[in-house]
Amino acid sequence: MKTKPIVKKLNFEPNLKDYQKTYDSFSYFDEAKKFENLPDGGFNAAYTVCDVNAQNFRKNKVALYWEGEEGEEIKLTFQELSLLSNKVGNLLKNLEVGRGDRVFLFLPRIPELYFCFLGILKIGAIAGTLFSAFGPQALEDRLKNSDAKILITTPQLYPRVQKIKQNLPNLKTVILIDEENRTAFMKEAKLKKPGKNSYTWFYPLMEKALEKLHLASMKPTDPAFMLYTSGTTGKPKGVVHQHKALLHECISARYVLDIKDTDVYWCTADPGWVTGIAYEILGTWCIGSSTLVYGGRFDPAKWYDLIQEYKVTVWYTAPTAIRMLAASGTELVKKYDLSSLRHLASVGEPLNPEAVNWGQKAFGLPFHDNYWQTETGGIVIANYPSLDIKPGSMGKPVPGIKAEVINNQGQPVGPYKEGNLALKPGWPSMMLKIWRRPEKYQSYFLKNWYLTGDKAFKDEDGYFWFISRADDVIKTSGERVGPFEVESALVSHPKIIEAGVIGKPDPLRGELIKAFVTLKKGEKPSEKLKEEIQTYVKKHLAGHAYPREIEFTDKLPKTRSGKIMRRLLKAKELGLPLGDTSTLEDY
Ligand code: WTA
Repeated sequence: MKTKPIVKKLNFEPNLKDYQKTYDSFSYFDEAKKFENLPDGGFNAAYTVCDVNAQNFRKNKVALYWEGEEGEEIKLTFQELSLLSNKVGNLLKNLEVGRGDRVFLFLPRIPELYFCFLGILKIGAIAGTLFSAFGPQALEDRLKNSDAKILITTPQLYPRVQKIKQNLPNLKTVILIDEENRTAFMKEAKLKKPGKNSYTWFYPLMEKALEKLHLASMKPTDPAFMLYTSGTTGKPKGVVHQHKALLHECISARYVLDIKDTDVYWCTADPGWVTGIAYEILGTWCIGSSTLVYGGRFDPAKWYDLIQEYKVTVWYTAPTAIRMLAASGTELVKKYDLSSLRHLASVGEPLNPEAVNWGQKAFGLPFHDNYWQTETGGIVIANYPSLDIKPGSMGKPVPGIKAEVINNQGQPVGPYKEGNLALKPGWPSMMLKIWRRPEKYQSYFLKNWYLTGDKAFKDEDGYFWFISRADDVIKTSGERVGPFEVESALVSHPKIIEAGVIGKPDPLRGELIKAFVTLKKGEKPSEKLKEEIQTYVKKHLAGHAYPREIEFTDKLPKTRSGKIMRRLLKAKELGLPLGDTSTLEDY
């Protein structure tokens, strides 16, 4: 593919001045030496991220600018972040949480999410995040598999937890964030008494917790956080990351996102997704920049307003959002003073050349696409301020990462040849393991390569171009959705007997979820039933994982062993050749 490269004239000095020189001479060992360890020589990512900054000249610098849906504002300095996370650490210790215990956060983007995450890491427990869009089924799968001991959530989300709590015998305590007590607590005013239910309130516990915390001295390879993500088959898998993931997250934040400690940085991702953890909490705070978090919904005018108000300099977002902004027009952009912006980046799904160029037209800056996965723990292929962009390409490997396009035998294929996108294992943010599923972890490797599960090609200049997933995983509005999870939710509906789910290309969302559904005998297809099914999946599984399109069918294509052939459903939907159908049963 050939697109006209964007040659940039930079009016700032990027962190990565000479890509090739840095790439060739890069060493994680040298980088690791720049990190400050705990006084006893041990390591803790949360210490490096907030305590080091709370002890140096950044002590009173704002780390978090938070704005809620209703316009409420909260600012937390690095020192406050450090003390609040210390208190969370003690709060959890008071509940007998220890090293390696799993503490999950089922929270919208509120300030507590950020300092609780750090507090969990500080005591050596493993932090897990859950999207606030999740319904009872999605929650149960994740909390059960991880054997979470503590869940921190809100009164608004609690009813979904209540539905499944009896199935989670190892979930010892559910803590609800009493937002109404937040301000009082921050001002050290009087607090409400704790409730006496099957949950307990957060701020009264915070009140009792000490500010001084003895941080857990960890090995860099100890687990720090985990996220559930979807594959083609089976339940979601728990991807576990180690404390030293911070090293690669910090380096990539510096080189790819070009973060400097003078930046006001805005990442629009939710920490229920790995991007929100790696580049809202860890990599970027590690550099000492200020981070903006907006707790409200997507709204173009509000987004521009935030950039203007907080004088955002670096903005990291996703293709669907960019396409939606583009659809709302360039005229709207012109109403705001967005001159603070210096660097724009995007992740999560293919960024089409039109979207890259729209950035140039609307903001005078192109969006820099970058590529990674929950499993890679940090950006692995990227476009950089100092390199020309070839619109439509994901860019070049991040210093420290060796990427290649290989065939099914593990041999590199030549330029422009399609193959499996693979990485050389060993970078610090590569997943440590898949929780309780060692065989799944092993399945990621071919010879001495880590397989991403994506198809790509490389051009003669070493730029990587995304082609497609090699499996059935769906990417809708940047969210990774496993067809199996949606199919399971569908067949639990009383009127459905079988379901096959595919990702259907969509100009706005990248892909949309389409379900082919067979109804039980006597059930009649109707538009009303479609809506009923959609609502059911939204409520049961997750708000974002419901099929926007449903087609009723009498029969689904299956292999002779009874597996639904999604590949055929997709080929038929797109009018493509059906390919090898030798394993197909009569259809
Ligand atoms: C896809 C997201 C094309 C890819 C941080 C990958 C992309 C999956 C890009 C991981 C990109 C991510 N261009 N495709 N720039 N970035 N993907 O785990 O299929 O939610 O394997 O992590 O998203 O999704 P995940």
